[in-house]
Amino acid sequence: MPRKTPITYDHSLMWASRSSAGASDGERGALARSLEPVKTRLIEDWKSGRVGFFGIPELKDDLAAVRRTAADVARQFTDLIVVGIGGSDLGARALIRALGREGKGMRTHFIGANTDPEEIALLLDRIDLRKAAVNVISKSGDTIEPMSAFALLRDRLVRKVGRERHRRHVIATTDPKTGTLRQIADREGYRTLPVPRGIGGRFSALTTVGLFPAACASIDVAGLVAGAKEERDAFANTSAGASAPLLFAGLHHDAYLRRGQRISVLMPYADGLKEFGSWFRQLWAESLGKKRSRSGMVVNHGMTPVAALGATDQHSQLQLYNEGPVDKVVTFIEVDSFRKDFKVPNPYPDLEGVAYMAGHSFSEIIHAERAATAVALSRNGRPSGTIHIPKISPESVGGLMCFFMLATAAVAELLDIDAYDQPGVEDGKKAMYAMLGRKGYSL
Ligand code: PA5
Repeated sequence: MPRKTPITYDHSLMWASRSSAGASDGERGALARSLEPVKTRLIEDWKSGRVGFFGIPELKDDLAAVRRTAADVARQFTDLIVVGIGGSDLGARALIRALGREGKGMRTHFIGANTDPEEIALLLDRIDLRKAAVNVISKSGDTIEPMSAFALLRDRLVRKVGRERHRRHVIATTDPKTGTLRQIADREGYRTLPVPRGIGGRFSALTTVGLFPAACASIDVAGLVAGAKEERDAFANTSAGASAPLLFAGLHHDAYLRRGQRISVLMPYADGLKEFGSWFRQLWAESLGKKRSRSGMVVNHGMTPVAALGATDQHSQLQLYNEGPVDKVVTFIEVDSFRKDFKVPNPYPDLEGVAYMAGHSFSEIIHAERAATAVALSRNGRPSGTIHIPKISPESVGGLMCFFMLATAAVAELLDIDAYDQPGVEDGKKAMYAMLGRKGYSL
């Protein structure tokens, strides 16, 4: 069946014949063959249920609960305050930035991704808590940034609407059985949404974690999940050497191991995908930055992700990408068709410095800017690839998220590391607990 929202990966400029620091053209076949066992292992992870994100499209009860709860909350409140950090924050931000622009749905606000008191004050100043619902998201409930912000919001809510009534304002997204936020929710009688078992923070954007805030912002959450399913099924039904996320993974792995290109730049040419870059940055960094291999050997693997934005960062980063160290692989995301467009008028026909733009549409200009950047990189020998999406839609954004989750899982397979743990984050958390006097922790 033809795909409704095809996501394609143009890797022609990733090869040495087009960009001298790219992958060896003679190795195409070997690279494709190296991806076969990766695909087999990922499919095993999916079918055995060992890796949860593959099963997101089948979590139909959770999707129904998200839609039901969001409809109810939107009837009662005008604003939604989303409280979370890392995997419990960045997915929802990416979805709302990309798709919540129609002015429909609740106004969404984010807090809890930092403990900066000035930021918290700004939020409290601009929101009438009587009209606001609070979605506190934490799988563990032990994370200081969101849980401290939640404690403050709860306190202010109780003062405004009373202890009894405040319960109606809070929806807790957390582990279905264990953890501190689960205990709090049970004690207070809050409504809850389950973080599905076996789906780690940064892989959870398309579960209740990201979908509930998205649904409150009137985003078609079923479309998001359908897009992810389409991408997952395309991966399963395509040979490894022709699979876009697997090729993306294989080419990045090759660049990293063979040519020391350790920096992965993601550069969407669309403001709506700006926060998508931050979501990718966490996924790539936290999943692939690992001290030990799965067998316990010290490997210190990792590729440093950079979230850039086209065309804006042409005037900030491109000098470095074109002439600095040859240590980067750049990936553009090109939106083939924009939801709105304008033509540039021609107020100064006698001034060639601006007259040449006249009559071109803004979408034509942004496409030309991306293409020109790719040409410049290639002339300077720097590899780049382009992911194309037909337009920014729930299906394409869900598909893109699935694409990067698959690619991340595939790189982890190639490097023989665990993509789903984060011992390095836990180290920092433990040290901070000790500094703030949490019982049972010492420096
Ligand atoms: O990807 C991850 O696992 C992390 O970024 C977590 O999402 C983050 O640390 C927040 O954890 P929690 O949801 O338990 O508050």
